[in-house]
Amino acid sequence: MRIAMIGSGYVGLVSGACFADFGHTVCCVDKDPAKIEALNRGAIPIFEPGLAELVAKNVREGRLTFTTALPEAVSAAEAVFIAVGTPSRRGDGHADLSYVHQAAREIAMALTDYTVVVTKSTVPVGTGDEVERIIHETRPDAAFAVVSNPEFLREGAAIADFKRPDRIVIGTEDERAARVMTEIYRPLYLNQSPLLVTARRTAELIKYAANAFLATKITFINEIANLCEQVGANVQDVARGIGLDNRIGSKFLHAGPGYGGSCFPKDTLALIKTAQDYDAPMRIVETVAAVNDQRKRAMGRKVITACGGSVRGETIAVLGLTFKPNTDDMREAPAIDVIRTLQDAGAHVRAYDPEGMTAAQALLSDVDYARDAYDCAEGASALVIVTEWDLFRALDFRRLKGRMKSPMIVDLRNIYRPDDMKQSGFTYVSIGRPS
Ligand code: UDX
Repeated sequence: MRIAMIGSGYVGLVSGACFADFGHTVCCVDKDPAKIEALNRGAIPIFEPGLAELVAKNVREGRLTFTTALPEAVSAAEAVFIAVGTPSRRGDGHADLSYVHQAAREIAMALTDYTVVVTKSTVPVGTGDEVERIIHETRPDAAFAVVSNPEFLREGAAIADFKRPDRIVIGTEDERAARVMTEIYRPLYLNQSPLLVTARRTAELIKYAANAFLATKITFINEIANLCEQVGANVQDVARGIGLDNRIGSKFLHAGPGYGGSCFPKDTLALIKTAQDYDAPMRIVETVAAVNDQRKRAMGRKVITACGGSVRGETIAVLGLTFKPNTDDMREAPAIDVIRTLQDAGAHVRAYDPEGMTAAQALLSDVDYARDAYDCAEGASALVIVTEWDLFRALDFRRLKGRMKSPMIVDLRNIYRPDDMKQSGFTYVSIGRPS
């Protein structure tokens, strides 16, 4: 199949490279000439394990190209994917669909033969109808179908998630479009990934419902962790104890500093807004979003409490800045709120992250950025684990302790065992576990 991918951001680039790897011919389009120029040079604008190699291989084998020329890419394609950004609109939390609508207008102008236009960006229910209306108004003569095909990949595991998804969701009532989409995903469902064909609005809602449910699961276990701390229980054992029940499932039950990233915060807000607009409010999701917001700052206060109630004038070392490991993404990262809370309380913060420091510098002023974990710990009154990079799992604790002013670790991701920490001579505070 010949595919045009509109938007060479995270989802566009990963999907484009994976489709090319399935054997399709893919042209990735972006408005940003610098990005396209870089991609054509082999430079990948985002950090994602395995992506650079996958792009290079498919470019070399002639299946993957990059361009700013949308009309040429679209007119040559049997399927056009819209994978542009849908940020939260300033002020009201609704998803900002201006990029999607603009892409629809530009695609419409370039359509030639029957084309399947696919929304891959996460878009509110009804966006497919709007894209269809825009294309039809712009080009009443065009033969096309609009399909919703939400993407469920996670940053840091994007390629594996794309190639081995739990399911593929295709939202369309157009039989010809369903056949085209089935052809595109043939390598995956041959590989046993279930393919679910639903109505378009249903597919759009599945994506939001999935993300809201996962955000709820995380927030639930985070609140259980708070309770564990009060009653002397262990949240990891509780998570295991409930997760072994197949009806609950063991994933997404890791208590931590609250969820961040480019999807959960934005998508929960957008779902809340849609639900309010349709007079079917989602009180559970509203509460999840509010609880998660408060939790991030509460984690800063947890560090202050661990330090005896004051951090004024003290140096606090923060390990891990990105919203999760294996990404350079700082969007809605809990580290931002943790650090601001510590700074507001008069602490001096020194931080280290293997990939996130460039992005962090733009967001967090007055932070010292360290060369490595040991440099970060220098003179610190506490060391706080905010993101669970593998690199932090096996530190040389003797060396670390030697650098610190006082041996205190606040582990917001539960990556160490309390007994080991005690043996290493640290005061150790973690999430939902007896110290
Ligand atoms: C998420 C969804 O998983 C993915 O399906 C969707 O397409 C996009 O949004 P992503 O944001 O990349 O993916 O990361 P994910 O691994 O889901 O983690 C999101 C946040 O939740 C992170 O801040 C992570 O630290 C946190 N989290 C996750 C927990 O705190 N506990 C968990 O058990 C799982």
